[in-house]
Amino acid sequence: MKILAIESSCDEFSISILEDGKILSNVISSQIEQHVDFGGVVPELAARLHLENLSWVIKVALESTSIKIEEIDYVAYTEKPGLIGSLIIGKLVAETISQYIQKPLMPLHHIEGHIYGALIDNEFAYPVLAMVVSGGHTQIEVVRSANDFEVIGSTLDDAIGECYDKVARVMGLGYPGGPKIDKLAKEGNHFAFNLPIPKNDESYDFSYSGLKTAIINIIHNLKQKGEQVPIADIAASFQYAATKIIEKKLEKAIKQYNPRTLTVAGGVSANREVRRIILELGEKFNIDNTFVPKMEYCTDNGAMIAKLAYEKIKSNN
Ligand code: KG4
Ligand code: ZN
Repeated sequence: MKILAIESSCDEFSISILEDGKILSNVISSQIEQHVDFGGVVPELAARLHLENLSWVIKVALESTSIKIEEIDYVAYTEKPGLIGSLIIGKLVAETISQYIQKPLMPLHHIEGHIYGALIDNEFAYPVLAMVVSGGHTQIEVVRSANDFEVIGSTLDDAIGECYDKVARVMGLGYPGGPKIDKLAKEGNHFAFNLPIPKNDESYDFSYSGLKTAIINIIHNLKQKGEQVPIADIAASFQYAATKIIEKKLEKAIKQYNPRTLTVAGGVSANREVRRIILELGEKFNIDNTFVPKMEYCTDNGAMIAKLAYEKIKSNN
């Protein structure tokens, strides 16, 4: 079974080819460089750049395998959520290919795709407990099959990645801030500043706006007093508070849902501390299938959409 999958929901245009569960190609055109000067993704620019890139991405994704477009059995694409202009371009490409080769079209959910990112190269078992951490989401999902996703807790205000990016901007680190704070945190003392652990309650929901305000106030106060801002200590203290809550909520969810697989998904799954927490929890609770995604599967990519499509087709047969 051969699947061609398209992911275009934000500032990456990516196409992946999967054959019988194996990823044969995963070509990603990233636009981060073009958005840096604007301090974030500019939706219209993202859509325009997708138009410029889609043709070479399709060509390279197919040519790096021995598969011809006519041999594809299913065409999958990210239907939602995402930037509307970016999504439309992915949909148009998917529809055109599917009509041309007369094969079924599969509109899929971006976050469900992310969840399969770490499962691409691994055997796993349901139920899967997935921590989703990205620029737009902080949520915990229990996945009982490729057609059964339950969100047990979600973002109430700023998502974790958004919070990293906003704090980084105030620290003068530029966009995207997440990786920069993560790197700086290595050199800092995470007990230097006593920050509130966000939404430290019994629910599985997440709220990062209080932590964001607390850290931004600390930076402004230091600047006002003319004191030097110890950016490494700030980064380390922020990272500690931002990720500690993930550990707490996941630990509770593991006890309640007894997952057979534990995973993490989304852009912030590249974070050093988040990865450490997942692997440590997996060991502590003896969850043999504990996986963090390869770096190329942390950011948006077609392979995760191809894998989701494959698992859905398998579970429907
Ligand atoms: O999933 P993603 O690529 O896009 C969305 O769908 O939102 O996630 C992007 C987010 C950005 O906020 C970026 O700063 C964050 O992931 N990020 C990180 C790290 N790498 C990327 N945040 C913290 N630590 C990292 N190492
Ligand atoms: Zn994403």
